[in-house]
Amino acid sequence: MSRRDQFLSLRTHQPVVLPSLLSADFGQLAREVERLEQAGAAALHLDVMDGCLVPNLSFGLPVVEAVRRSTALPLDVHLMICQPQRYIAQFFAAGADCLTVHIEALEQPRDVLRQIRDTGAACGISLNPATDVARIEPHLDECDVVLVMSVPAGFGGQEFDEIAVSRLRHLRRLVRDDVLLEVDGGINEVTIGRCAAAGANLLVAGSAILGSGDYAAALQRLGRLATASS
Ligand code: DX5
Ligand code: ZN
Repeated sequence: MSRRDQFLSLRTHQPVVLPSLLSADFGQLAREVERLEQAGAAALHLDVMDGCLVPNLSFGLPVVEAVRRSTALPLDVHLMICQPQRYIAQFFAAGADCLTVHIEALEQPRDVLRQIRDTGAACGISLNPATDVARIEPHLDECDVVLVMSVPAGFGGQEFDEIAVSRLRHLRRLVRDDVLLEVDGGINEVTIGRCAAAGANLLVAGSAILGSGDYAAALQRLGRLATASS
């Protein structure tokens, strides 16, 4: 099975909660990955930031490679970088199974999505809360994943923006049934149900899981709430 197909098999009848490593203790990265795997994570979300597209820096290729060496779980790599086309092949080689790029970073979205697909990874497009949703609409047929940001991309621990709920509902009607709808930012026990009810398949949670003492309990609670609302 291709890495793209493996990633897309996350599309089951139940929503999936993806822990974001942005809130991990990077001094013990392999241990954090192991804890999340033992807690029952079905895949991991990795946030790459370049200080250009977003006002923050996180990590790049060596960290994705290190996570890849620590686990066989699918890796969902969220590229918050300018000119992502320069690095697609390298992130795929580093172990990304899904590569998501931001519409705000793209001059030729169609070409970049095709470039990702040609590597063998699943391809995703994302938009910030302040970006007009009409900008991604011409590209929905070219995507495996549509990632709705529910905070301005760049930092963990921000407050959920309700605009994401109506966007998810709107996009669910527009995309093919096999497209994964993902939501990222401010997902917690209060907000997750509304996103699942609006049609999200993949729900990213950073601080709500890694900021808790018990990753398994947090993941299970979020998963239960999402499933109950979907
Ligand atoms: C923010 C990142 C998120 C972040 C979410 O730009 O894309 O993935 O880790 O963190 P929480 O869940 O704490 O909002
Ligand atoms: Zn993210």
